[in-house]
Amino acid sequence: MKDREYGEFVERLRSESDIVSIISGYVSLHKKGKNFWGCCPFHNEKTPSFSVAPEKGFFYCFGCQTGGNIFSFLMKIENIGFSDAVKLLAGKLNIPLPEREKTEQERYLEREQDRLFHAHELASAFFYSCLTKTNLAHTAREYLTRRGISDESIALFKLGFAPPSWDRLVSALTKRDISADIMIKSGLAVAKNAGGSMYDRFRNRIMFPICDLRGRVVGFGGRVIDESHPKYLNSPETPIFNKRHILFGLNIAEKYIKATGQAVVVEGYLDAITAHAAGIQNTVASLGTAFTLEQAKALRSAREIVFAYDSDGAGQKATARALEIARRQGVTIKIVDIPDGKDPDEYIKKHGADAFKLLITNSLSVVDYHLQTALRATDFSTLEGKVAVVNKMIPILAALDNEVEINGYITQIADSLSIDEASVRSELRKFLIFNKKDKIVKMGKDITAIHLRDNHITALAQAEKNLIRFMCEDRSIIPYVQVQLRLEDVRDELRKKIMKLIFNAYNMEKNIADVNFLEALGAEADNELSHIMLMDIDLNNVAQMVDDCLKTIRLTSLKDLYEQHRLRADELQRMGDSSFLQELAESQRINDEISKLHQS
Ligand code: UTP
Ligand code: MN
Repeated sequence: MKDREYGEFVERLRSESDIVSIISGYVSLHKKGKNFWGCCPFHNEKTPSFSVAPEKGFFYCFGCQTGGNIFSFLMKIENIGFSDAVKLLAGKLNIPLPEREKTEQERYLEREQDRLFHAHELASAFFYSCLTKTNLAHTAREYLTRRGISDESIALFKLGFAPPSWDRLVSALTKRDISADIMIKSGLAVAKNAGGSMYDRFRNRIMFPICDLRGRVVGFGGRVIDESHPKYLNSPETPIFNKRHILFGLNIAEKYIKATGQAVVVEGYLDAITAHAAGIQNTVASLGTAFTLEQAKALRSAREIVFAYDSDGAGQKATARALEIARRQGVTIKIVDIPDGKDPDEYIKKHGADAFKLLITNSLSVVDYHLQTALRATDFSTLEGKVAVVNKMIPILAALDNEVEINGYITQIADSLSIDEASVRSELRKFLIFNKKDKIVKMGKDITAIHLRDNHITALAQAEKNLIRFMCEDRSIIPYVQVQLRLEDVRDELRKKIMKLIFNAYNMEKNIADVNFLEALGAEADNELSHIMLMDIDLNNVAQMVDDCLKTIRLTSLKDLYEQHRLRADELQRMGDSSFLQELAESQRINDEISKLHQS
């Protein structure tokens, strides 16, 4: 099947499927008005905020802002990719999948992948029996016993041993008809010279098979049993092994993560294995220090991710990076601060499983973690120290959404530094204003300025959303908006991207309905768009409303500019810099423009 035919097939599935009945297979839905409602399957809730719009073919959760069409729903709920969602839906609708004719190239790659999987499976069995059944592994077994790794753990994780020889694996695989080419490509063997001879990559090492979600071995990590280097040798990247996407142990931990909603992420193979043995079976290892966005996505069944990285400097750096990445996934993040320079493996060995479970229960929130790190790194008995800690914490507070939480932290920061809460509040306010954060923080009496900002920001967001909706409902509006709107006035980056895509589609004479927002802009944009399409808005006086939206967007942008210039003028004047006059003049000019726009 050609790409176009596939697209047509997908479109046919979409139009023939009844999104309500498909979703009803997973969620119990009730009709209210035009839409159907139920409790969201993607987050924990007791009152329904998950809605499905049958005639539009969208779903959207007002609680967790997840949304999309029937394919995105199946992808999320079944944890599968797009083409699997297509297959699944076709199955549910009893529509036979058209034979897709694969290209020569695709067939070749598929065959190669199968061979790589097969070679890894054989190698894993070979290493496993070397460890468990041969005398060669005597020292290795002793080493594992010394480290407290039980036979159950060895069996569960299929640990193995690569014997101290140059070609035992190569000859075992050769006997099983694995080609030299596949041995090299898999990274299990290394080419010695151009003549085609090769030798085992892993020698005299304890082997940790790395599996994909379906439990297929895709690579290995091998640890020395003495003090030699490198401590761990890992498989190279291959067509089936991409380190960025894999979490060690996820194939085993997945069902526990689903059941508890929580994932514990550690750095090392042995940390994960020891944690599992201690009954913390929702643990995975990020294979070294770098936690990636792809790994965060692989943990999508977790509502909470607990990072339990080593407490050394590298571990802390890794934690900071991991937090940044995981934060963008919208999950709750906690951090375990392991006392006295240990990794989870050593900690559990020394203090026991219960002690480590307690650390997880008492794990720190992101803010607490940053506060603790900042307090530890600074001499906060001095004024400079206090200022440094506050400066470090302000952007972190500004990123929070919950007022109660923000206020709690303000108290906590003030208390730990023995300073006045008011000064922390005023620093936060300054930060919010200067960084144009769309956020209110109710902070005593002096809140009005930010409150006002918030009102027009809500109006702005609504105007941006309405414009998108109008353009999707009626394409004849697009060229008008394209001329009237200054894209730089659109504050929200995501909506700006959506608008750009709408303009481009229009200019290329494409239907908006045919634009795949998920593919072009990612899941966040797909969510946003479903939200916009499900908004309850009056579509009667669209022409007037489009003009109102355009005006709101322009006005907000001008008011912002005005505020910036005025603040700068104030500051310059305070410093005795006469260039404040220019700033003042500029703010006056903007003010005139605002008045004119108000009258129009
Ligand atoms: P660590 O050095 O903390 O090792 O590296 P570890 O897991 O605690 O192992 P033990 O307890 O010393 O035996 C953490 C992880 O970083 C990766 C491995 O995945 C390791 O588990 N790593 C480390 C490498 O890939 N190569 C190395 O040389 C070292
Ligand atoms: Mn360790």
